Amino acid sequence: MKKQLTFVLNGKKISVEAEADTLLLDLLRETLGLTGTKRGCGEGECGACTVLVNGETVNSCIYPAWKAEHSELLTVEGLGDRENPHPLQEAFLEQGAVQCGFCTPGMLVSAYGLLQKTPTPGTEEIKSALAGNLCRCTGYKKIIAAVKAASLKISQP
Ligand code: FES
Ligand code: FES
Repeated sequence: MKKQLTFVLNGKKISVEAEADTLLLDLLRETLGLTGTKRGCGEGECGACTVLVNGETVNSCIYPAWKAEHSELLTVEGLGDRENPHPLQEAFLEQGAVQCGFCTPGMLVSAYGLLQKTPTPGTEEIKSALAGNLCRCTGYKKIIAAVKAASLKISQP
């Protein structure tokens, strides 16, 4: 049976119908058309589907949509876009932290969640915050460098 869900998504209040067993990833991608959030493993292991719920990272592929009721959600679309990119998005490109790009939305959202709590994180803090986000391409060094560069840009504009 469908239920009406209300939450704030990327700064806008929305109301949407969902089945009781709908997963947040499916609601975002299929119902709301926000395909920036990726489906990798579908089992909570790779972090490609990471979004923020009330500032905390969750794997939306295993997160029931109903749990997001009355929450504040942020997906990668909420960070910025081509015309107005977030400093993290700029830094990922500048530092060569994007190869195939499949992990990138989840990495960006996890990194954004970290910077909200820890504006100038050290290497270990970045590694720990991104531990749930797997990348098959970059070897992580450039991703860590990008998060550091963005944190400096934000804290010392
Ligand atoms: S797709 Fe959700 S953790 Fe891999
Ligand atoms: S850039 Fe390809 S998986 Fe990370």
